[in-house]
Amino acid sequence: MFIEQIKSIVDKTLPPISNLSNILSILYHSDPNINWCGLYLYDTSKKTCYLGPFQGNPACTKIDLGKGVVGTCAANQKSIVVPNVHEFDGHIACDSSSKSEICIPMFNLEGNLTAILDIDSNQYDNFSSEQAEKYITASKILSGFLPNLL
Ligand code: SME
Repeated sequence: MFIEQIKSIVDKTLPPISNLSNILSILYHSDPNINWCGLYLYDTSKKTCYLGPFQGNPACTKIDLGKGVVGTCAANQKSIVVPNVHEFDGHIACDSSSKSEICIPMFNLEGNLTAILDIDSNQYDNFSSEQAEKYITASKILSGFLPNLL
């Protein structure tokens, strides 16, 4: 179970980027259908999401608030599960093999948006609500390592 793996790999004596990178690696390898998994860091003053640590192919570096699945998630501050990315109006295709996607907003202790956890799958309808709950749990652990990354 990847949540247990994440808890066991986290080492609070390390710089935050080391923990973020290892947690994302665990998520990436938790499901063979995942082809991309990473963070978009939210810059409040610029209203833009910037590519952060990730696993997978090189991806779009900058996504404005309200654009694509990531920017929509940032604007609404709610998780989005997209069973078929080709049916999502405005989807940004960074990797042509992506077919479904989940985006989860992440918040700091003050409740402000800090990042979006974005996970792509090369299969349609890959993310059940049960699985989404596990990624939300993972996103809460990731959140603890986010301050001061931008
Ligand atoms: N598909 C996303 C862009 C980021 S990639 O999936 C890594 C979107 O529509 O915002």
